[in-house]
Amino acid sequence: MLANVDVTNVRIETDRLILRPWREDDLEDFYEYASVDGVGQMAGWAPHKSMEESRTILGYFIHDKRNLCLELKENSKVIGSIGLEVMYSDPVEGALYGRELGYVISKDYWGRGLMPEAVKAVIDYCFTVFDFDYLTCSHFLRNDRSRRVIEKTGFTCFGESGYETQLGHTEISRNYILYNYKR
Ligand SMILES: CC(C)(COP(=O)(O)OP(=O)(O)OC[C@H]1O[C@@H](n2cnc3c(N)ncnc32)[C@H](O)[C@@H]1OP(=O)(O)O)[C@@H](O)C(=O)NCCC(=O)NCCS
Repeated sequence: MLANVDVTNVRIETDRLILRPWREDDLEDFYEYASVDGVGQMAGWAPHKSMEESRTILGYFIHDKRNLCLELKENSKVIGSIGLEVMYSDPVEGALYGRELGYVISKDYWGRGLMPEAVKAVIDYCFTVFDFDYLTCSHFLRNDRSRRVIEKTGFTCFGESGYETQLGHTEISRNYILYNYKR
């Protein structure tokens, strides 16, 4: 079942990152990475074509209160996002509560282990503070980089399904689950 979530008061610190709610003044950093070719497509959305488009999406992030931005401590730049999303298809029956993790990081910062660092911290927060029963995560079959993040953060694969992207085609998605190990 879908867990309630509100990230308004969330602030998570890792070695290199601060995870916090999005703010309006994050717009330029958001547009900078979301407009780059080859980033959003791997998560099913098209690169942003204008600052106005980024402003609209940023407005949703702020309003929906389920997305955290990744602020890099070394330069205070916002370089990515993690969302506690509505599950595309919920694999768990009965009275257990969860959410689906979705994430993106600026191409300039790929390959430094930053997203696994962020995902581990968010998992920990979801299982200790939000008290979720489980989290799900998924990647397109061709997205080996995301597959590695999911493997490195402890999820277990439970199947594959079709996923309709915002780009007008269907991808095969490999789906994973992680139950609350804090109990
Ligand atoms: C998937 C993503 C979040 C990974 O973040 P990250 O911080 O780079 O994660 P890591 O540093 O752990 O790298 C993940 C893997 O990608 C590999 N990788 C990183 N950059 C790469 C590059 N430029 N080319 C090829 N492989 C690369 C790494 O070697 C690593 O694999 P390994 O653990 O076997 O060495 C990031 O690539 C991204 O935002 N991609 C676009 C959006 C997306 O795919 N979102 C997820 C949707 S499900």
